[in-house]
Amino acid sequence: MKGIKDPKKVIKFIADGGNKGRANKILSQIRDYSNDPIIIKKLESSLGLEIKPFYEELIDDSSFKKIEETLANNWRNLGIMGLIEARMLYSICRAIKPKKIFETGVANGLSSTIFLLALAKNEIGTLYSIDISSDNIKSKKGATALPSGKKVGWLIPQVLRKNWQFNVGDSKTILPNLLKQQNYCDIFFHDSDHSYDYMMWEFETVRPFIKKMIISDDISRNSAFNDFASKHGYSEVKISQNVGIITINHS
Ligand SMILES: C[S@@+](CC[C@H](N)C(=O)[O-])C[C@H]1O[C@@H](n2cnc3c(N)ncnc32)[C@H](O)[C@@H]1O
Repeated sequence: MKGIKDPKKVIKFIADGGNKGRANKILSQIRDYSNDPIIIKKLESSLGLEIKPFYEELIDDSSFKKIEETLANNWRNLGIMGLIEARMLYSICRAIKPKKIFETGVANGLSSTIFLLALAKNEIGTLYSIDISSDNIKSKKGATALPSGKKVGWLIPQVLRKNWQFNVGDSKTILPNLLKQQNYCDIFFHDSDHSYDYMMWEFETVRPFIKKMIISDDISRNSAFNDFASKHGYSEVKISQNVGIITINHS
């Protein structure tokens, strides 16, 4: 096997069924829902919402099954949010029925797809997304990469796009104007630039407009989410180590 770097790896790959075998293995990992019941219980009691029925509806949904399969067939370092978190965000959005969701950071579009799926079932609401690029994102080591030839948001099924408004540009330029234009935002989801200053800036910018929840991915990268919550006396709930939720109570 001259020219092949690691023949043992190639033999194992073929023995495991090649690309199809790999996709099936990834799909069964994606469909490992074993930890979900504990998280559902925790979220239901801390958020005071009934989300289990919506979660069950998602697991049975044929378009969600298709999304899982598409992900498995295109798997690589996609930089997407976690699948457990995605299932929980869907269930929360079904329970809350937001009219306006804002998100920063689209990339492959898993979070966008999950929000749009919930909005479609709710039969109400718009997702306003912002990404600095609409094209393929440069793949740096450890950074988000799109499968070759794919554009930002490629994962989002065409039928869900009628409730989607995609804005291309730096969130620092787009977010303030979009918020002013729309007057308010029910749910804000941060998943763009994960530096401390940037996260803090997005949370503070959204704060005067937010009605229900601020949700953030990658909260363990720095203390911005924690600091923001304690500065304003908000309590936070964690879906996982990475994703946190702040509920806004306008009392
Ligand atoms: C981690 S990915 C988003 C993953 C996506 N939410 C998902 O679940 O599939 C981060 C995205 O943020 C975008 N981004 C980075 N800095 C940004 C900025 N300053 N303004 C807007 N988007 C930005 C990148 O282009 C990239 O597509």
